[in-house]
Amino acid sequence: MLKELALANAYRVTPTGLYLISTAYQGKRNVQFAFRALGLTVDPPLLVIGIQADNFSREVIQKSGEFVVNVCSQNHLRAVDKSRDLSGRNVEDKFVALGLETLPAKHVEAPLVAGCHANVECKLVNSMELEGLYLFVGQALASYIDDQVQPVGRLAGKTFRLDGPI
Ligand SMILES: Cc1cc2nc3c(=O)[nH]c(=O)nc-3n(C[C@H](O)[C@H](O)[C@H](O)COP(=O)(O)O)c2cc1C
Repeated sequence: MLKELALANAYRVTPTGLYLISTAYQGKRNVQFAFRALGLTVDPPLLVIGIQADNFSREVIQKSGEFVVNVCSQNHLRAVDKSRDLSGRNVEDKFVALGLETLPAKHVEAPLVAGCHANVECKLVNSMELEGLYLFVGQALASYIDDQVQPVGRLAGKTFRLDGPI
C-alpha cells in the first residue's frame, strides 16, 4: 500500500550505488564514501557527484579540479563504520586509516581504490552549490571495470547486494 512519506526523506527514496570518491592535491590524498553519484552523458562522458560543503574532499576537489569515482563492492563495507566521523582534515592518510588499498591513476593525482567494480578518473568541468551540498560534474579521462567484482547498492541508509540482471 502506498503511503505518504515525510519530505525530509524524499532524497533517500532513489536507489543508488555506493562510491568512494578519491582526491589529492599537492601530495595530500583523501577519500570519502558517497551514495550521491550518477553517470550523465555519453559524449562528453560526464558524471556528477554530490559532496557536502563541510567535507575536506570538497576543498580538495575545488583546489585540484579532479577526482576519481570508485564503485564500491563488498570489499569496502568494513571501512564504512570506520569512516564515520573521520575526516581527511584530521588524519595523515585516510586510505591507511580505513585500510583501503590503492592503485595509481593515469591522468589524475588521486589514486584508484583497489577491489572496486569500476573506477573513473575525472576532471572537474562544472559545479553547482546547493544548500550545504556541492554538485561536481566530472568528465571521464579514463575508466576501468572488473566484471568479476560485483558492485553494491544503497537505499535509505542500507547496503544491498546486486545479484545480477532480471
Ligand atoms: C554510506 C555513506 C554514504 C555517504 N554519502 C555521502 C555523499 O553522498 N556525499 C557526501 O558529501 N558525504 C557522504 N557521506 C559522508 C562522508 O563520507 C563523510 O562526511 C566523510 O567523513 C567526509 O570526509 P572528508 O572530510 O575527509 O572529506 C557518506 C557516508 C557514508 C558512510
